[in-house]
Amino acid sequence: MPLLTHRRDWRRTRATELLGLEHPVIQGPFGSGLSSIELAAAVTASGGLGSFGAQHLDPAGVTSLVDSLHRRIDGVFNVNLWVSTHDVPEADFTDADWDAAVTRLLPLYEELRIEPPQRPRPAAYGFEELADALITAQAPVFSFVYGVPSPEILERCRAADIVTIGTAITVEEAVALDEAGVDAIVASGFEAGGHRVAFLREAEDSLVGTLALVPAVVDAVEAPVIAAGGIATARQAVAALALGADAVQIGTAFLATAQSGVTPEHRAALTSGPRRTRLTRVQTGRLARGLTARITEEIATGDPRIAPYPYQAALMKPVAQAAREQGRLDLAVFWAGQSAPLVRPGRDAGEFVSALVGEVDSLLA
Ligand SMILES: Cc1cc2nc3c(=O)[nH]c(=O)nc-3n(C[C@H](O)[C@H](O)[C@H](O)COP(=O)(O)O)c2cc1C
Repeated sequence: MPLLTHRRDWRRTRATELLGLEHPVIQGPFGSGLSSIELAAAVTASGGLGSFGAQHLDPAGVTSLVDSLHRRIDGVFNVNLWVSTHDVPEADFTDADWDAAVTRLLPLYEELRIEPPQRPRPAAYGFEELADALITAQAPVFSFVYGVPSPEILERCRAADIVTIGTAITVEEAVALDEAGVDAIVASGFEAGGHRVAFLREAEDSLVGTLALVPAVVDAVEAPVIAAGGIATARQAVAALALGADAVQIGTAFLATAQSGVTPEHRAALTSGPRRTRLTRVQTGRLARGLTARITEEIATGDPRIAPYPYQAALMKPVAQAAREQGRLDLAVFWAGQSAPLVRPGRDAGEFVSALVGEVDSLLA
């Protein structure tokens, strides 16, 4: 295994070569406005790969984001999109379905003294248009979750020298991405914070831990493998490299850094208290890991108050905003992974990378 024969070269892997990185450390992208340009810039400046989750933007927003990242970052960066944008086609979720979903959630809106939201208008764009904006603006790295882009999109990336990174939460998904020819594969175990980005089976039927998933994916695919899920310290990074990973992708620990886009309440919740997490569909309709709160315990998977994605996300958006404004932490879902208890608050993201790399050096010395 590389760790035994090339210890001094742990920083030189197929992933660092592919991405042109000094260290095999990737900041995981965060959707819904929790990424920041400053966070991506700090991570890339420290020799890792900075990322930005752009799933919530429209095509013009993606273009202007990539332009801003090019202006701010002297080096490589990754922009992330979600391939699948609906769990049921727009036409199959009728206005009557929306009204019924609102009625079921009325007690929650009443508790917060807020008006229920209007049904969002159908978006005039989908993944293809967002990917087109990303490719045209020449993001150096394009990562995606919830599926495999079309051969045309992957071919355009190859022609434009854009490195593609797909995300798998099972071996079958990793093989599908590998067969499609993506350049690298994130193998994300269920410890990870945020969404379980299943695309071949239901998320509940695709729950594999990082320790089991990473070596199985390494054995099954040709592409370099990036381990994600539960990695917040040098000890865990070394373990991931020993499992055969070519790089680590870290989310929760970067979410807690000074540069991330989280609210002060979210950052405080990530770094104090018991930090128990749970997989829940309550906030968006898709399964995701966040800190437990009254709302994650009362509205469990299968509860009729949970509509499909993205309708549940639209129904819960005003709840999240009001919970924040009214200090109602019992109704707030703060995304976090299972390694939250290992995370320290408010560190500079660049210093976090340097410290992590130094600690890996010491562990392998
Ligand atoms: C708040 C939050 C939002 C996330 N959004 C995305 C996203 O939009 N796209 C994506 O590929 N991964 C997303 N992730 C996953 C992270 O990029 C990363 O893979 C994961 O957090 C790693 O696990 P860890 O949290 O245990 O470190 C998100 C994670 C969190 C915590």
